[in-house]
Amino acid sequence: MARITASVYTSHVPAIGAALDLGKSAEPYWRPVFQGYEPSKAWMRANTPDVIVLVYNDHATAFSLDLIPTFAIGCAAQFKPADEGWGPRPVPMVQGHPELAAHMAQSVIQDDFDLAIANKLDVDHGLTVPLSLMFGQPDAWPCPVIPFAVNVVQYPVPSGRRCLALGQAIRKAVESFDAPLNVQVWGTGGMSHQLQGPRAGLINRDFDTAFLDQLIADPETLSRKPHIDYVREAGSEGIELVMWLIARGAMSERAPRVVHRFYHVPASNTAVGHLILENS
Ligand code: DHB
Ligand code: FE
Repeated sequence: MARITASVYTSHVPAIGAALDLGKSAEPYWRPVFQGYEPSKAWMRANTPDVIVLVYNDHATAFSLDLIPTFAIGCAAQFKPADEGWGPRPVPMVQGHPELAAHMAQSVIQDDFDLAIANKLDVDHGLTVPLSLMFGQPDAWPCPVIPFAVNVVQYPVPSGRRCLALGQAIRKAVESFDAPLNVQVWGTGGMSHQLQGPRAGLINRDFDTAFLDQLIADPETLSRKPHIDYVREAGSEGIELVMWLIARGAMSERAPRVVHRFYHVPASNTAVGHLILENS
């Protein structure tokens, strides 16, 4: 049977991808960000899974106001890095895992979560920047990735409760897949940031620290946090953090082992937060 061994949480700031792609990662502004991921890259090399289920949000790239799936699972064999206006990032094609993805769709939909099925999906910075942070700049990504897109751009967006429960359904789906796969679930986006309006540039370290503490120790209580609290305290784009509850829900009920925790302000407009949790 397949099993979930670990979860990874990280911000996905597009400028981080641009810094890597343009060879600026050693510059003073960026060095502390990438340094924070050095232990993560070493851990990834030692713990490369067979498949990553990567929970992220599309930023009106593959989807638009024409079509807004709350949850969409990528079932294709391959996913192209998207052109977000500056040409596609020079990163490898993302290889999918259609068999596990189809099984997850079957199991999770039968568990009453109505997923959209994406058989063609260009993946934007929400997915590719976390891969770059964790794997650096390889010629090919070291394992298949199942993109799992969540709408956190256009309200109504799913609740924290729904996200935590969805993670639990994903765990059940993975654990009922009849192959001995080592699977990681990643939750991406956040932490506090607001990109527009009078509060653009908002960062809230106290909120972010408390969020990380509670995500580790008490995700159940954290999942009851209403959307308005994210928006008020973590800024309009801070709502991306609900996606972290999906990855956390996919972990076992036992207390996880904290492998690495990192926080850095700022990267572009965002507080960068990062966590690696292993199932104990
Ligand atoms: C920034 C952060 C994001 O999460 C995003 O999707 C776009 C931009 C930023 O900090 O610039
Ligand atoms: Fe974002």
